[in-house]
Amino acid sequence: MKYDTNLINTELKNFPNMELSITPTPIYQLHRISKRLGCNIYIMREDLTGFCIGGNKIRKLDYLIGDAIGKGADTLITTAASSFSRNAAAAGKIFGFEVHVVLTGNKSEQNSASQALFQQFDSVLHYVEQTDEHSLKKEYGRIVSELSNQGKKIYHLHPGGSDAIGSLGYINAFNQIVQYSQDKGTHFNKIIHSSGSTATQVGLLLGQSISEYDVTIIGIAASQKSKIQTQRVYKLAQSTSQMLGIQFDKSKIVVDDNFMGSGYAIPSKEAELAVKMFASTEGVLLDDIYSGKAAAGLIHYAENGMFNEGDNILFIHTGGNSGLFY
Ligand SMILES: Cc1ncc(COP(=O)(O)O)c(C=O)c1O
Repeated sequence: MKYDTNLINTELKNFPNMELSITPTPIYQLHRISKRLGCNIYIMREDLTGFCIGGNKIRKLDYLIGDAIGKGADTLITTAASSFSRNAAAAGKIFGFEVHVVLTGNKSEQNSASQALFQQFDSVLHYVEQTDEHSLKKEYGRIVSELSNQGKKIYHLHPGGSDAIGSLGYINAFNQIVQYSQDKGTHFNKIIHSSGSTATQVGLLLGQSISEYDVTIIGIAASQKSKIQTQRVYKLAQSTSQMLGIQFDKSKIVVDDNFMGSGYAIPSKEAELAVKMFASTEGVLLDDIYSGKAAAGLIHYAENGMFNEGDNILFIHTGGNSGLFY
């Protein structure tokens, strides 16, 4: 098997990486879970990306902040009280941006720990009382016009950091997998991770395509049925591959929506058991919205003989475990 990290390095060389994430993140075998499930399960600790509250958002911000600086922006704007916006608030602050976050619901309805974090980074918070998409868009547009009229140079951060630039973070992360395989002589046959706003899956798929690494990447859907999520992944993969001037094969997209339970952010029995297994067997904390549901998929595949004999499986822990505490 040939591994060449230069292929990805060459594709990414023209995009500034602000290196907020502390990499390489640990990759290691989960020996106790491997024994219990009867297969070789490895983990990539993307929850430990180091900056602010960590998780997969930091790799996206590595490139998004680089792009915002390159475009001469001085103001960042995003929506939602998510792990992405909290991390973006921190990243923006340390690079001297003014950061605006548009939140739905009034101030008293917000999570106080989340509010305290935004306060640490001096973010400007805007509240839209109505929670519907239309009201949010309208208020967002109004704030953008107001800031532009004040002469601010605005950079829009897509929710979840999932746009073509954000995807570069997971192309770069894929190179870490290539490097690990080269260093350790361990080839991964399957990669399993949570798929939400899509840049993680898109970056991994394009990283695989650029490096020609032979692996099946399975995105466990957190919020959408497979058909819709596949289309969303494809749309972003197209715009990212166009930006890079490379080809992308849609047939490589694998999305499994069987572990979403009753829907986004609704706890499921399978995820609860997976969170318990990872915590009590390996001391690894997962959340029950993203990584817990992805781990439920991994456990199901292992228990139902869906991995081949001798396969090496890489589970990407995308973070979210701070949600266990607030
Ligand atoms: C902890 C965690 N894991 C996975 C995901 C999904 O990643 P992506 O949005 O890039 O598909 C998210 C997205 O919010 C997340 O917060």
